[in-house]
Amino acid sequence: MEQEKRSALDFSSDVVIQLDHWQRRTPLQIDFRDSAQGNHAQFWLHIAQQYLTWIVPPTRALRWQPPQSGSKPPWVEWFGDGELNVAENCVDRHIRTWRRNKAAIIWESEPGDVRVLTYFDLYRQVQRFANVLLGLGVRKGDRVTIYLPMIPEAAVAMLACARIGAIHSVVFGGFSAEALRERINDSQSSVLITADGGWRRGSIVPLKRNADQALEQCPSVRHVVVIHRGVEDATHVPMQSGRDQWWHRLMEEVPPSCPPEPMESEDPLFILYTSGTTGKPKGQLHTTAGYLTGVAATTQWVFDLADEDVYWCTADIGWITGHSYVIYGPLANGATVFMYEGAPDYPDRDRWWALVEKYGVTILYTAPTAIRTMMRWGEEYVRRHNLESLRLLGSVGEPINPEAWLWYWENIGGKRCPVVDTWWQTETGCIVIAPLPGITPLKPGSATRPLPGFRASVLDDSGDRVTPGRRGYLVLEHPWPAMSRTIWGDHARYVETYWSRFPGKYFTGDAATCDRDGYYWLLGRTDDVLNVAGHRLSTMELESILVEHPAVAEAAVIGRTDAVKGQVPVAFITVRESFPMHAGLADELKDYVVERIGALARPAEVHFTAELPKTRSGKIMRRLLRDIAEGHVLGDTTTLADPGVVKHLVQLYREE
Ligand code: WT7
Repeated sequence: MEQEKRSALDFSSDVVIQLDHWQRRTPLQIDFRDSAQGNHAQFWLHIAQQYLTWIVPPTRALRWQPPQSGSKPPWVEWFGDGELNVAENCVDRHIRTWRRNKAAIIWESEPGDVRVLTYFDLYRQVQRFANVLLGLGVRKGDRVTIYLPMIPEAAVAMLACARIGAIHSVVFGGFSAEALRERINDSQSSVLITADGGWRRGSIVPLKRNADQALEQCPSVRHVVVIHRGVEDATHVPMQSGRDQWWHRLMEEVPPSCPPEPMESEDPLFILYTSGTTGKPKGQLHTTAGYLTGVAATTQWVFDLADEDVYWCTADIGWITGHSYVIYGPLANGATVFMYEGAPDYPDRDRWWALVEKYGVTILYTAPTAIRTMMRWGEEYVRRHNLESLRLLGSVGEPINPEAWLWYWENIGGKRCPVVDTWWQTETGCIVIAPLPGITPLKPGSATRPLPGFRASVLDDSGDRVTPGRRGYLVLEHPWPAMSRTIWGDHARYVETYWSRFPGKYFTGDAATCDRDGYYWLLGRTDDVLNVAGHRLSTMELESILVEHPAVAEAAVIGRTDAVKGQVPVAFITVRESFPMHAGLADELKDYVVERIGALARPAEVHFTAELPKTRSGKIMRRLLRDIAEGHVLGDTTTLADPGVVKHLVQLYREE
């Protein structure tokens, strides 16, 4: 495995922060003996019984067989004899208590509209929308695609699907028409839920127009439900008769109550697409009981979420963080969730801090890229507001460098709030490595230790554990309830990606080291996956899009380190001989990628070269391109077929 410098991280591994005066509000009811004795299945069964409301309580913990190539799902079963409904757990059970009139969602739009939905409001709306879906012919197991901005209806739509057993597939509103189309077609959704538009940095995101473009080639979609935000005059939104209907009209027409569908533990809850090493996004399938157990418990363990809190996770519902820690985990805990639609710098760079002050946010969960952006903007925006309500800070999405960790801790948390760095993935469903605030001493830059019920290790190429402090592959030693069960429609790929590298163990794709205290330091991906501002992109996906452009003969995409976004895509291109080169081609290619995927995938740089460096067997040497892009001294180039190419590339890079 290639060795990398970890100077920034090494520095801090001795810094330990223990907040002696910080007290948890929620007690940890964890039987550490169970989890410590390796009886993880039994441990999780207790957690599932403790945290969830069951229609039929489970008695069985786990049945599983490590998947092998050729095996089919289901191959793992958590709480197999239980029955429950996720919407009932996130909504109904709270309205039977004093939480009935408690705020479930406090929402502010970018232009400043405010809405508060109590648990009872949510209860009424989820039932009505569940009836809308039933009226459109959606049945248990059918797929529904949700393409919405951050508005409360997104939560209503997701929970309504869960209520009737439909499988939702939420597509991030920043994705393009083509990315939406690909995801709709892969899941074969019969219904699409969208809005006329959303707000982002003062401009309109034309969701319905994108949707219409996507739907030109989505034969499975029979109905489109459109939320009227009023961002565009309703009369200007073309509604296709027989296919498109307004949300508010449908909601008026249906009966108010809809009983929750009893679901088996392993019934699917949702599909969420994420990038992998190949061009095609992978639809991770999460199921009912295991997923909800994982997110409900970890929300309480890691965020210490109590009834008095105002909890704000800044992630969009289009990502797993939005599913697990905006919707399902917090609502299962009966929490008050704050939701904001827009950009952090609209109308000014203090918007987030204005919101924290205005709503008295107590827990803030965000991404390192946002923290580094705020750092760059400077403290003056932070100081405009009183942030004393905050008591806990969280980070997710990529490694948080100690400098950003300390800035967050000092400037946002006023040195009183623990910072919980949470490592997990779309596939893990819930947080896996993170501190238990109030218990685990913190080390800036480390996600600390695996939570109870998880066992991690760091392995070398041959599957042996590396000695403490050495870099290796991060694996999880045994199955856990919230793990993804399969890749929608491609179980072979699932087995191969996660369970074949080290048989019987879950391969995360991340590099890590574990120090002598058992603390994990995450060191980025080991595969061709980029992490751009906490979002996962595949180099292959970008490459296969670029080569579809008529100018491009070959494309190689790598991730270059970026001070704010963590990584940014850089493309190296060889142009077809028949194509007349022109000055605007680099920008044209950048736009082409944005059109095909979305703005988050825009290459930061496009470089043209006569050849790409390849090994004798014809593999593009991405490592070399990375070194060039980073301006590093070149590594070993003896396996290159044409060393002249490198010289040219290096030259090219220096000239720009
Ligand atoms: C990849 C998963 C999990 C929600 C957001 C991203 C990286 C995530 C951390 C962290 C270091 C992290 C990993 C992981 N990652 N959190 N706290 N420290 N790296 O979800 O898109 O599924 O990406 O994000 O590389 O494999 P995702």
